[in-house]
Amino acid sequence: MRLFAAVLAALLLSCSKPPEPKPMNQIPHDVHSYANPNAVKVTHVSLDLEVFFERQSLQGSAVLTIEHIDPKAKEIVLDSRALQIDMAEASDDGVKYREAHFETGKPDPILGTALHIPVGPQTKFIRIRYSTSPSATALQWLAPEQTEGKQHPFLYTQGEAINTRSWIPLQDSPGVRVTYDAKIKVPEGARAVMSAVNCPDKPNCVFKLEHAVPPYLIALAVGDLQFIPTGPRTGVWAEPSIAAKAAEEFADTEKMVAAAEKLYGPYRWGRYDVLVLPPSFPFGGMENPLLTFATPTILAGDKSLVSLVAHELAHSWSGNLVSNATWSDFWLNEGYTTYIERRILEELYGKERAMMEASLGYDDLMGEFKTLSSGDQALHPKLDGRDPDDGMNSVPYEKGALFLRTLEAAHGREKFDAFLKGYFDHFAFQSITTSEAMTYLQQNLGPVENLKAWLYQGGLPKGVQPPVAEAFTALQPVITNWLAGKEIDTSSWNTHQWLHFLQGLPEKLDAKRMARLDKEFHLTAGTNDEILAQWLLMAARNRYTPAEAKLEEFLTTVGRRKYVVPLYKALDKKQATAIYAKARPGYHSMTRQPVDAMLGVPSN
Ligand code: BES
Ligand code: ZN
Repeated sequence: MRLFAAVLAALLLSCSKPPEPKPMNQIPHDVHSYANPNAVKVTHVSLDLEVFFERQSLQGSAVLTIEHIDPKAKEIVLDSRALQIDMAEASDDGVKYREAHFETGKPDPILGTALHIPVGPQTKFIRIRYSTSPSATALQWLAPEQTEGKQHPFLYTQGEAINTRSWIPLQDSPGVRVTYDAKIKVPEGARAVMSAVNCPDKPNCVFKLEHAVPPYLIALAVGDLQFIPTGPRTGVWAEPSIAAKAAEEFADTEKMVAAAEKLYGPYRWGRYDVLVLPPSFPFGGMENPLLTFATPTILAGDKSLVSLVAHELAHSWSGNLVSNATWSDFWLNEGYTTYIERRILEELYGKERAMMEASLGYDDLMGEFKTLSSGDQALHPKLDGRDPDDGMNSVPYEKGALFLRTLEAAHGREKFDAFLKGYFDHFAFQSITTSEAMTYLQQNLGPVENLKAWLYQGGLPKGVQPPVAEAFTALQPVITNWLAGKEIDTSSWNTHQWLHFLQGLPEKLDAKRMARLDKEFHLTAGTNDEILAQWLLMAARNRYTPAEAKLEEFLTTVGRRKYVVPLYKALDKKQATAIYAKARPGYHSMTRQPVDAMLGVPSN
């Protein structure tokens, strides 16, 4: 009888699985990669590169360790983009190499160029000698003037989503996890850091990452960098002139790691450091393993923008430990991370802080819905034939986080926390699809209401509760009062309340009201970049001329996409084009791309 029950249970379980479960070790098809990892798979990357600032080129070799999955496979296919390949070699033992024939496909504007190299059944290593082009989409080469210290040039990489192929020939799909090591030769006075084990005391570090990660997480930065610890396993890297400020701003990092560990299990990567980049960095932050890359625009002086550190740290679980297998599964990275980010904030700074961030995020999402097709409002968008960047808006972040909040509310926090911890243990160091994640979810947490609507439809399913922050509700009458011309008391406001206040004002404000805002709250002279960017957006929309100089200064120094793109969109086209002509050379390719498209500037 017991046996019968067990067999029945097993049968029932297998019935609730999706129609086509992923065969063991099968890497899901990725429309953004040419690679053939289900035939021959790269498992390790060993880099030996020299950094040439004058030529804006990395030059050297990549040795790829390969594994034969299909014994009949005759070639390995790699991704590349704008790489100059000088030679390919193959080896059975990693010692003796023989030259190998290689062929490149026709370059595609989104995917880059397929690189075909024949392999025999004994081939275990492929060595590629190559150099990168100055137009490599992952790389930004900065002149000394574009740095904080203005003395030394700077280089950094941005791999996500599909840019790693522009500086390393490999199988650039998040489903193909690799370990890596790297020897990086840099000019005198510069030092290299990577998303790997770094050596703060040794200028000639040999980097090593022994945990397998998706290729978009391989990262390098080179410049005049100093290290300051903020705790036993946390610290900051930054240009010397801002390192102390950064260390102060990020003083709570160690506590954040501890809070995340308490919720979701051990931090498995060793150290957690934050690298502060020059202001052209196209993102707020990037979760490169062991070493988050961050914009200096979060150095507000009062820790008010450190939710970004909580976010990138959270990726050490959601994203780096358990990764999206394709870019349509991006919400598994960002939605889970946004949810966890706010749990970390709640642990450190209390529930109200977390609710304010959630509420601002919800407002963002509502705004974003108005601009997107219903297919792109789904958690799992269709990205065939499109740039994965097209899926990078607030939907995976905020709708994803709301999905998890809704589950938490339905099942209770205790049960949901235990579930998430189990999820990270279960899928640790794997890349998974939405369908795998949802199968596990339904088997281990229970059936999910409206799951199809969440994943494949626009908007939000009926009955979803938006996050409410008391501190924001209390601002409603204040906004009304201010609009009625009354004086208001803002002395106790934090950054989030300021943001909510400004975003709660009507989009169209006349010159008198704009001037009143500026005079009463000194917004053009503001030093908190998040508030400043919001104010400059209002200034651009309402053609508020007294802020024009500041707007131009901001756009010509800061390259953070989230700020820059809406600003160009809000400006009058002629003015936008004029400022962009000056600012464009200072932007990373990932910021240039959307602005080029918007303003009709030919890319190069
Ligand atoms: N992984 C992202 C950055 C990213 C996304 C790079 C898509 C390339 C393609 C990172 O974790 C992120 O979400 N950054 C946010 C920070 C935020 C939501 C706190 C950003 O940069 O604004
Ligand atoms: Zn993120």
